[in-house]
Amino acid sequence: MARGRDEGDGRLWRVRSSTPDQTARLGEWAGEASRAGDAFLLHGPVGAGKTVLASGILRGLSVPGPHPSPTFTLVRTYTGRLPVAHVDLYRLGEGAAGEDLGWDDLLDGASVLIVEWAQYLGPWTPPDGVRIDIQPATASARRLEWRALGPGGLRVLAAARRGAAAGPTAAMERAVEQSRRRTAEAEGVEEPS
Ligand SMILES: Nc1ncnc2c1ncn2[C@@H]1O[C@H](COP(=O)(O)OP(=O)(O)O)[C@@H](O)[C@H]1O
Ligand SMILES: [Mg+2]
Repeated sequence: MARGRDEGDGRLWRVRSSTPDQTARLGEWAGEASRAGDAFLLHGPVGAGKTVLASGILRGLSVPGPHPSPTFTLVRTYTGRLPVAHVDLYRLGEGAAGEDLGWDDLLDGASVLIVEWAQYLGPWTPPDGVRIDIQPATASARRLEWRALGPGGLRVLAAARRGAAAGPTAAMERAVEQSRRRTAEAEGVEEPS
């Protein structure tokens, strides 16, 4: 994965992903750094990879998969390390702002919010968070543009960026470590922490 380019004060980060797995991994790093009240505002055309990225974020929040697209259900809520809501406003379009999706609860600061087609949030757009624009480049390459809207957004952006900079070696080590831990759990072995 490319390390991406920094623009200005670190609030804007452009990165290229060559596979769905790389896109999901960016989400995973950001999800691991998420705190209650964080918002991920996803933009990009149909098939860009918003749901792939969302699934990575959910994994980073320790929400076991599968994470089906909320295109038809509009909202899916999960409980991982934190409560999370995955929202897809595609079907509602401009009408999303007037629809009662339980915005007061979704935005009460207790949950992490992941929104596909976030341009339709209108007045419900949270003040902080990270905006991520995904553009298809080739059949399997995507350009991702991360924009921090406030301190929370900057924290998750920086985490994704650190993950990408650490590169495949760190990711592989982590995967091996996770699989070792899972095996130990399955065998009921206590792991020293
Ligand atoms: N680098 C990439 N990142 C994300 N998805 C990719 C990438 N390359 C190919 N794809 C494919 O693009 C599609 C993205 O689908 P999805 O995440 O549902 O899009 P969206 O939610 O934006 O409509 C998937 O079929 C995925 O396998
Ligand atoms: Mg989608």
